[in-house]
Amino acid sequence: MSHKRVAILISGGGSNMVSLVDSMTGDHPARPCLVLSNDPQAGGLKKAAARGIPTAVVDHRPFAGDRAAFEAELLKPLLAAEPDIVCLAGFMRVLTADFVSRFQGRMLNIHPSLLPKYKGLHTHARALEAGDKEHGCTVHEVTAALDDGPILGQARVPVEPGDTPETLAARVLEWEHKLYPAVLRRFALGNTEPVLLP
Ligand code: GRF
Repeated sequence: MSHKRVAILISGGGSNMVSLVDSMTGDHPARPCLVLSNDPQAGGLKKAAARGIPTAVVDHRPFAGDRAAFEAELLKPLLAAEPDIVCLAGFMRVLTADFVSRFQGRMLNIHPSLLPKYKGLHTHARALEAGDKEHGCTVHEVTAALDDGPILGQARVPVEPGDTPETLAARVLEWEHKLYPAVLRRFALGNTEPVLLP
């Protein structure tokens, strides 16, 4: 059986990318084929290169808000890598419906909340603000609507007394690193039964 090819898009440190890459070994049905960033300074690029994975950068800044032009450039290395699956992992650019439609049903994203709660940014602060006792992360199929789409996995995390957005984010991130690889393995086998952790 040939492996499914997985492209991973990042914008920063790439800790989720590293977890995904390090999970794709042995009898895992997928292998990473590209790590692509919109930020030339993204720390994850070095981590990917150190693991022998092809990397590419398309800096979004020269496009100054011309989303379609940026995405036309982003597509070049991405399509050249011929991915079967695209994983957004700490990727911080909103993608247009046109871009997403090219990967309909085979693009995943991880979002640091228990969707549909807290779409968008500052999720940990919002959960604390709301006095939630539970928080977490979600992996979902990417559709045209932001942080929406069929849920493929969730990890629930307790909010502890005295938590700050930083301490809560760190606790959630640990579970992101467990959830995303578990979802990708199942998804690569064609199984969309949600992964629910712990
Ligand atoms: C993570 O909290 C992820 O949920 C969000 O970006 C943060 C950093 O991700 N999308 P990474 O360390 O760059 O993978």
